[in-house]
Amino acid sequence: MKEQELMELFADLSIEEKIGQMLQLSGNFYETGDTEEAVLTGPALEMGIGEKEIFHAGSVLSVFDSEKIMDIQKRFMQKHPHHIPLLFMGDIINGYRTIFPIPLAQGCSFDPEEVKHAAEVAAEESALSGLHVTFSPMVDLVRDSRWGRVMESTGEDTYLNSCMARAMVEGYQGDDLNKKGNIAACIKHFAAYGAPTAGRDYNNVELSERTLREFYLPAYKAGIDAGAAMVMTSFNTLNHVPASGNKWLMQDILREEMGFEGVLISDWAAIEEMIAHGYAKDKKEAAKLAIEAGVDIDMVTSVYIKNLIKLLEENAISMEQIDACVLRILRLKNALGLFENPFKDLNAEELKKSILNEEHRALARMAAADSMVLVKNDGILPLQEKKDKIAVIGPYATSKHLYGFWSILGREEDTVSLEEGLKRRGLKETPVFAEGTYVLPEDYEFSGIVAGEGKRREKTEKEFLVEALEAAAAADKVVIAIGEHAYQSGEGGSRSEISIAQNQIQLLRQISKVNKNVVAVLFHGRPLDLREVEKYANAVVLAWFPGSEGGNAVWDILFGDVNPSAKLSMSMPYSIGQVPVFYNEYRTGRPFHGEKGNRFLSRYQDIPNRPLHPFGFGLSYTTFSCSSVEVSSEKLGDEGVTASVTVTNTGKKAGKEVVQLYVQDVTGSTVHPVKDMRGFEKISLEPGESRQVSFHITEDMLRYYDIQMQYICEPGEFRIYIGDSSDTENYATIVRE
Ligand code: GLC
Repeated sequence: MKEQELMELFADLSIEEKIGQMLQLSGNFYETGDTEEAVLTGPALEMGIGEKEIFHAGSVLSVFDSEKIMDIQKRFMQKHPHHIPLLFMGDIINGYRTIFPIPLAQGCSFDPEEVKHAAEVAAEESALSGLHVTFSPMVDLVRDSRWGRVMESTGEDTYLNSCMARAMVEGYQGDDLNKKGNIAACIKHFAAYGAPTAGRDYNNVELSERTLREFYLPAYKAGIDAGAAMVMTSFNTLNHVPASGNKWLMQDILREEMGFEGVLISDWAAIEEMIAHGYAKDKKEAAKLAIEAGVDIDMVTSVYIKNLIKLLEENAISMEQIDACVLRILRLKNALGLFENPFKDLNAEELKKSILNEEHRALARMAAADSMVLVKNDGILPLQEKKDKIAVIGPYATSKHLYGFWSILGREEDTVSLEEGLKRRGLKETPVFAEGTYVLPEDYEFSGIVAGEGKRREKTEKEFLVEALEAAAAADKVVIAIGEHAYQSGEGGSRSEISIAQNQIQLLRQISKVNKNVVAVLFHGRPLDLREVEKYANAVVLAWFPGSEGGNAVWDILFGDVNPSAKLSMSMPYSIGQVPVFYNEYRTGRPFHGEKGNRFLSRYQDIPNRPLHPFGFGLSYTTFSCSSVEVSSEKLGDEGVTASVTVTNTGKKAGKEVVQLYVQDVTGSTVHPVKDMRGFEKISLEPGESRQVSFHITEDMLRYYDIQMQYICEPGEFRIYIGDSSDTENYATIVRE
């Protein structure tokens, strides 16, 4: 509807209706039949709300069934005094029913276009189900693999995360929210939720303003600049102030500096949690603090709906503050066209045709292969499809749970396992499959989620091992499929260890004794300590949680149908002792470069400083060379400088290389990292083919916060690195006068 009509509607709303828009409830509040009573005497009573508040709400989360959405919206519209439609929101993080690789894996593709297409598919399936908003992309920069939610991020680099945030927002929203197949995106979790102390979920975050601004904020801004309709507050405190009540973060930075005019929603109960944080003495104060920070929607608590009228009556808050929130919510509904069509794209018939269709599966399969990182290969890969007798061993040999924690609608029956993927290829030598062990020891307990695969343990570990060793001994090559359980990462999935369960390492060790040709494929939601895997395997492929087509994509990689091109979006630590470890570290006054004998350097006594594999690292089945960096001028004027290299495919297979650009400000009024990514280009080269890759360097790419917190490019020397990984030493020097 036109803005004028919207303002007329708005002017006609009662205060209860306005505040109702700021309440988000979960779908169970709209159950019908005999559960209706149960709701009113159960969760609703607990929240202190009744049917009136329920049918005044502004949005619902986590209803994914199209018939339910249709039913709820119909009944709601009838009951609402002004028939204002609900917004339906949900966590579509890496696909709706066609499940794509987890975002940390998608980051490894270094292919924003492919990530955008995956988001488009997720939006199409979600929109046809009746969803209007996804709580994605998660844009939190991550450096600590103990934190379970690293799987949801696209990694440790500001520039890469910015590219991926933009790609996902564009993929979800298209160029007009009102258009068919588009849903609203939500940038989360604002801000710096990915830096919890000790990698423990929901823990406090301590960051200097300089670090916050240089590393953590830019990717949120990239998503907002791409037009994200919503932002979600984070659970954490930032320098002792919870995000949902943090006026500096939400008003000064998000609204003023970043110019965000969309809807700000709290994370789950995050407004009420300010009491637990020790920041609000009670719900009324929590409501006041959140309103002052400009949080528009209270997710799943009654803090707003039970306290805002009282605060208004006491003149503790103003009607203008309420009106601003409500108008943003109504404008989002209007942008989605919900006043004209409250069901938007909901269409059960079209949904059936869209879900997991051939085109969607093909994209999911390619995205999965493009996210798998080859970190070791002694030449055993690619496997010889026509020749090798293969044994596939390990808990992921036959598992269909190849999707990550936030694949809420992921289903095993939709997922291609390694066993199914291999059998479809009709090998000459019939492959053998043996689980060998379980993902987790039987006594492993997740808090709140049942351990293991939820199935009865048919065999003892000993029986498993015997069967696996027989299969391995009889095969030419073994593919051992091991890794984490999907619930070992994700929300609430912080771990003190980043190793694979010892029962799986034990299996690998035993297998390597009876067969010297072992390829390890890992399924995981975080960087892991790979030392023992690399010790016993000839090749190692990181498959992450690859999604619906994982079982096909793994074989596309192992047989060489797809030449691996993925690069690490997050460093693989040498050990947990290094964590947090990330490529753009600082030099210190006593830099350590591996030299022996000098104790008094910035080093460990027992492990190296370098991760096992750094950000940006990944192998191919071919090899590439990169010439030294040429610059168009050694002086950086206002027109900028072009830095170029020539990349050559020096191997025998066509392949893709991610050519990466990093900068270093050698000396400044504040110290700067050894290097920071400022660009990348993924190129395809035939064997023997060479191509020049150029990056245009402008002063804005060399800016940092100086000692006065001015964001400027200070005069002096800069190194321009171009290479195939963050540990490249290939650079040229330029000077900014
Ligand atoms: C969760 C997560 C958030 C998610 C929200 C709704 O606690 O922190 O990422 O979008 O609640 O499910």
